[in-house]
Amino acid sequence: MKAVTISLFGFLLVIAAAIISFCDGNSKVLCIGSEGQALLTFKQDLIDRSNRLSSWVEGEDCCEWHGVFCNILTGHVKELHLGLLSTSPDAYAPAAEWDAYFRSKLGGKINPSLVDLKHLSFLDLSNNEFGGLAIPEFIGSMKSLTYLNLSWANFVGAIPHNLGNLSKLHYLDLGINSLFEAKTLQWVSGLSSLQYLGLSLANLSKATDWLQATHNLPSLVELHLSGCSLNNGPSPISVNYTSLAVLDLSQNMLSSVTWIFNLRSLVSIDLSSSGVEGMIPSGFQNMSSLKFLDLSWNSFSSSSTLNWLSDLNQLQFLSLNSVGLQGNFSSAIGNLSSLTHLDFSNNQLEIEPKYLESLCNMREMDLSNNTINHEVSEIIESLSRCSLDRLESLNIASNKLSGNFPDQLGQFKNLAYLSLLPKLHFWSHSILNRGVVIIERQLGNLEHLDVSNNMLEGNISETHFSNLTILRSFWASNNMLTFIPNPSWIPPFHCEGIGLGNWRLGRQFPQWLQFQRNMYSLDISHAGISGPLPQAIFSDLGDLFLSKNFFSGSLFNFLCNSSNNLKVLNILHVESNLLSGEIPDCWENMPMLEVLNLGNNSLTGKIPRSLGSMRLIESLSLRNNNLFGEVPSILQHLVNMLVLDLSENQLTGSIPAWIGDKLSNLELFQNVLVT
Ligand SMILES: *[C@@H]1O[C@H](CO)[C@@H](O)[C@H](O)[C@H]1NC(C)=O
Ligand SMILES: *[C@@H]1O[C@H](CO)[C@@H](O)[C@H](O)[C@H]1NC(C)=O
Ligand SMILES: *[C@@H]1O[C@H](CO)[C@@H](O)[C@H](O)[C@H]1NC(C)=O
Ligand SMILES: *[C@@H]1O[C@H](CO)[C@@H](O)[C@H](O)[C@H]1NC(C)=O
Ligand SMILES: *[C@@H]1O[C@H](CO)[C@@H](O)[C@H](O)[C@H]1NC(C)=O
Ligand SMILES: *[C@@H]1O[C@H](CO)[C@@H](O)[C@H](O)[C@H]1NC(C)=O
Ligand SMILES: *[C@@H]1O[C@H](CO)[C@@H](O)[C@H](O)[C@H]1NC(C)=O
Ligand SMILES: *[C@@H]1O[C@H](CO)[C@@H](O)[C@H](O)[C@H]1NC(C)=O
Ligand SMILES: *[C@@H]1O[C@H](CO)[C@@H](O)[C@H](O)[C@H]1NC(C)=O
Ligand SMILES: *[C@@H]1O[C@H](CO)[C@@H](O)[C@H](O)[C@H]1NC(C)=O
Ligand SMILES: *[C@@H]1O[C@H](CO)[C@@H](O)[C@H](O)[C@H]1NC(C)=O
Ligand SMILES: *[C@@H]1O[C@H](CO)[C@@H](O)[C@H](O)[C@H]1NC(C)=O
Repeated sequence: MKAVTISLFGFLLVIAAAIISFCDGNSKVLCIGSEGQALLTFKQDLIDRSNRLSSWVEGEDCCEWHGVFCNILTGHVKELHLGLLSTSPDAYAPAAEWDAYFRSKLGGKINPSLVDLKHLSFLDLSNNEFGGLAIPEFIGSMKSLTYLNLSWANFVGAIPHNLGNLSKLHYLDLGINSLFEAKTLQWVSGLSSLQYLGLSLANLSKATDWLQATHNLPSLVELHLSGCSLNNGPSPISVNYTSLAVLDLSQNMLSSVTWIFNLRSLVSIDLSSSGVEGMIPSGFQNMSSLKFLDLSWNSFSSSSTLNWLSDLNQLQFLSLNSVGLQGNFSSAIGNLSSLTHLDFSNNQLEIEPKYLESLCNMREMDLSNNTINHEVSEIIESLSRCSLDRLESLNIASNKLSGNFPDQLGQFKNLAYLSLLPKLHFWSHSILNRGVVIIERQLGNLEHLDVSNNMLEGNISETHFSNLTILRSFWASNNMLTFIPNPSWIPPFHCEGIGLGNWRLGRQFPQWLQFQRNMYSLDISHAGISGPLPQAIFSDLGDLFLSKNFFSGSLFNFLCNSSNNLKVLNILHVESNLLSGEIPDCWENMPMLEVLNLGNNSLTGKIPRSLGSMRLIESLSLRNNNLFGEVPSILQHLVNMLVLDLSENQLTGSIPAWIGDKLSNLELFQNVLVT
């Protein structure tokens, strides 16, 4: 009792000292010199292209450095937060953004000087790029670690077993690297404080004892073993995961998972693509705490019943995408009133629309590619009973729906994604027109609209778009639509992708496209446009489809004498226009081009040498023009070429020998030389 009192007293003294030093303002605990030195040595071996560690300067207080956290009482470095927090840009992001993202990753080597940080409890190096480095053995001697995150960082090789010495670890995340385990996961079993174990993508095919090694960890809450080549069900021991809440065994080759059903504390189960076969086990029935259940991409027997769902009234996420189910969806779905995400796409299921009425929290629903044989309005009406304000995404494409376009659609205030395509019978013309009007007039929250490949017909006007202020992509190619706005119209949206192929867009290049700030992909092929190619389009275009119009004049101003930034241009199609003059010689401006099609125009002159600078080019067509002269030998450097079509020109000389020698990937070569 006395000892306790004394240590409590000592503790209070330290607190008091800390408070005094805070109030004092300038006697803050500084970084321990030797630890600052260890950090600088560690920094020396890192590659830090974006200067994330620029604050790490000799002589300065290391407790103030980026990512470094010290114990405020002792000054010891206790946490190193060097994981890259920013997530990768989205697919349409400009190349410059991707570049910046990769630059901001740390790389290089991990210097053993880290071992000198004797009080380090938190080490996060995740989401960096260590270029195939092995996980350093010395990390296993950093005994004070409670959190170790080396995920997403391109570590390669065997997992060092001495990580099992880190007995204080609560979090161990080694996921999404290229690691393997040669024999056994037994080393994990000693980590008795472990709450989180992440080994996703580590090859554990040889560690057949993974279940034995982990199931007795008394504090384990999350186990992530996705894509670990776990096979054929471990031996059916009785498992003892007393606290396990999150279990991710997706992307494996398990056949039986019956041991899971004893784990009543589970909140989240991911068994997607895990090779489970046969009836869907009704064992899920008693797992009444479940909120997340992903069973997608398995081969369940088509007659599996889903009645066991009825007791899972906490369930928020359910995916049965591509599991081979047939017949009527169980009425039990009606009990799942907590569901926010439901996906049973790619089966042969029918559903009674009235069961959807009680799904009052639904946000994303994908029922596409099934055999739902109802009026589309019944589905929309059932959903509108209760999920009007919440539904954000609805996909009912590729079913056997029939009927009129439902008026209620416009009432879904948050719908951002809608796909009713493409196999619906009900897209008769008059109804379609109405459909377009409804979609565009009222769905002001729409971000992605895809109505490509239908038979939509009619005139679109500026007002259709006036509420679509946050539209980010608009894919509507291959319809019979006309859109010729007033030349001064400024669209209310900034789309990254626009597809208006086969529309009628007027005789002039659509001026409104110039206001698209973030445009990456544009398809206005076969749209009846004439005149010169635009001299000022939009920055950072990646894919540009301008073919089958009446563009005339030279390519020069468009490619070589304009404010157009073509640095990231990846695909350029301008075939079947009325272009004339020579092919300009400024292709070094477009180093990222992979596909270039200038065919079926009236281009003349010689093939310019700068075409040889497009090192990434895979497909090049100059066919059916009036080109003459020889095939320049500089094209032999285009070693990625798969398709080269120079036919229907007046090219002379012999077929160059390098075509076969240097262009070893070439699959198609079309060339008719005039001799
Ligand atoms: C580890 O880092 C990754 C990427 O930064 C993050 O997604 C993950 O949640 C972290 N793991 C843990 C256990 O905190
Ligand atoms: C650390 O782990 C290794 C391998 O698992 C073991 O041989 C060694 O004895 C352990 N060292 C300590 C100090 O526990
Ligand atoms: C995992 O490792 C085994 C050999 O240990 C190998 O046969 C298998 O192909 C590996 N799996 C993957 C996905 O790399
Ligand atoms: C399960 O855990 C409990 C308490 O931690 C322990 O007493 C029991 O022996 C364990 N059972 C098995 C099968 O390992
Ligand atoms: C669910 O639990 C009940 C009672 O606890 C039990 O009788 C039944 O067998 C369990 N069902 C399944 C499928 O495990
Ligand atoms: C599905 O339900 C409908 C009526 O709700 C019924 O007529 C039909 O026979 C059922 N189909 C199957 C395969 O059970
Ligand atoms: C909901 O569950 C209860 C009991 O679990 C069941 O009697 C009822 O039929 C279920 N409702 C639906 C719509 O399935
Ligand atoms: C539709 O679902 C079936 C399985 O029912 C699948 O084989 C097919 O590939 C799916 N179609 C598409 C376009 O995904
Ligand atoms: C835009 O939305 C508002 C309110 O949702 C609506 O009153 C208005 O009619 C819509 N405008 C157009 C042009 O559809
Ligand atoms: C579309 O507008 C044009 C005139 O701009 C008109 O000639 C044509 O009849 C209209 N088409 C429809 C289907 O309304
Ligand atoms: C380049 O463009 C400007 C107008 O933007 C034009 O005046 C000039 O003649 C063009 N240069 C050539 C060589 O065509
Ligand atoms: C070539 O372009 C002309 C119009 O410039 C078009 O009429 C013709 O169909 C095109 N030929 C091919 C084979 O695409």
